[in-house]
Amino acid sequence: MSCINVALLGFGTVGKGVYQSIDSHQTRLEKVLGKRVKVIAVLVENLEKHKNFKEEGVLLTDRFEDILALPDLQVVVDAIVGCEPGNTYLKKVIKKGCHVVTANKEMFAQHGEELIVLAKENHVTIGFEATVGGGIPVIQTIKQLLQVNRVKKIEAILNGTSNFILTSMRKDGHSFDVTLELAQQNGYAESDPSNDIEGYDAFYKGLVLSQLIYGETPENKTTIRRGITNITSDFIQRVNELGLRFRHIVTLYKASGQIYCKSEPALVSSEHPFYQVEGVQNGVSIYTDLVGNIQLNGPGAGMFPTASAILEDIIQINREVSAEPSFIEFQEDGEDTSNWVLLSDKTDIKLPYETKVLARSDEKTIILATDNIEKILTENPLASCFALKGAFQHTPEKVII
Ligand SMILES: NC(=O)c1ccc[n+]([C@@H]2O[C@H](COP(=O)([O-])OP(=O)(O)OC[C@H]3O[C@@H](n4cnc5c(N)ncnc54)[C@H](OP(=O)(O)O)[C@@H]3O)[C@@H](O)[C@H]2O)c1
Repeated sequence: MSCINVALLGFGTVGKGVYQSIDSHQTRLEKVLGKRVKVIAVLVENLEKHKNFKEEGVLLTDRFEDILALPDLQVVVDAIVGCEPGNTYLKKVIKKGCHVVTANKEMFAQHGEELIVLAKENHVTIGFEATVGGGIPVIQTIKQLLQVNRVKKIEAILNGTSNFILTSMRKDGHSFDVTLELAQQNGYAESDPSNDIEGYDAFYKGLVLSQLIYGETPENKTTIRRGITNITSDFIQRVNELGLRFRHIVTLYKASGQIYCKSEPALVSSEHPFYQVEGVQNGVSIYTDLVGNIQLNGPGAGMFPTASAILEDIIQINREVSAEPSFIEFQEDGEDTSNWVLLSDKTDIKLPYETKVLARSDEKTIILATDNIEKILTENPLASCFALKGAFQHTPEKVII
């Protein structure tokens, strides 16, 4: 049986997951592809770390030139970290005529546009399912399964670490710092967690989706990137009493010719699909003109979920080589947020506009604003403001003790 030869760039969590999954699912791959999938080379940075890896027929190297020199290589999987050297390496293997599958969201968010053009010029395919939502098949759902529908908006929980922290803070009542430490102990957060908790990781994934749907990324002025570091357990408990939950959400849409990508904390009511997306889970809501809202939930990271996305891409690549390219249609829509919640540690909050007081204590006020949000914020610069997603029934004002 003939083989599809694969090189892995990187042999950490993702690289090893791909290697093991190819091994454990070889029979299935052969059935689907009619060919064996064979890893013939692995690139790492530090050979010493991998001195116990000895597999016949697999070249282990720290020299990228060795990968480029492989005579019969069809697919290169990028599972290394950061923009460089990943971007440079992928350009070289694309020019060599190899298909590429990447998990590297930071690199792809910033260089995806040029890599896709280069891949087209060289008649190869680039798969990037693993860059968004780990094992959730969001890219292929948009690319392959929504051929008639026009995509109007995406809302997505794309960072499992942030979702784990927000969920745990609500359930356990601990502070942000204590919960972050717990996430690190459980392996849900890196030792340097800033990419996750400052909203960068989710933002990069939003940019990848923008590139996919609109063929370009938004201008800086129509983007927001805010993390969850300012969400206190007090905020979380106060809104929880009103039946609202914090989520870190990426919202992507196009209005008046401009693409908007917001990566920020927001509140969801029990009516919203993300209300039940708890812990490290990710969730993606695709709003379209025909089918309406489609919701995909699942593990957004991890060794085998990410390997799953990469293997599915390898299969898809082999199908796409002979197929016509798919086109994604979108529809300008605008964000439909019409409710905001303001949390203030003061009772003398200035409210000259359309607002409803949801709850009040001697020191704190929670306001539901439906209009004039920018003016309200200008007059109350210390108040924290969050978009409220999902239908919300305003009940009579509550007194918080
Ligand atoms: N982990 C996840 O759940 C997940 C999910 C989706 C996407 N991703 C993305 O997948 C990529 C890999 O993540 P990971 O968690 O597997 O990272 P990791 O465990 O830190 O592994 C990174 C691998 O890349 C190698 N590497 C780093 N710099 C290199 C260089 N300059 N040249 C050659 N090799 C180099 C490292 O080599 P050494 O082993 O020698 O150090 C290591 O094997 C990242 O871009 C990440 O954002 C990860």
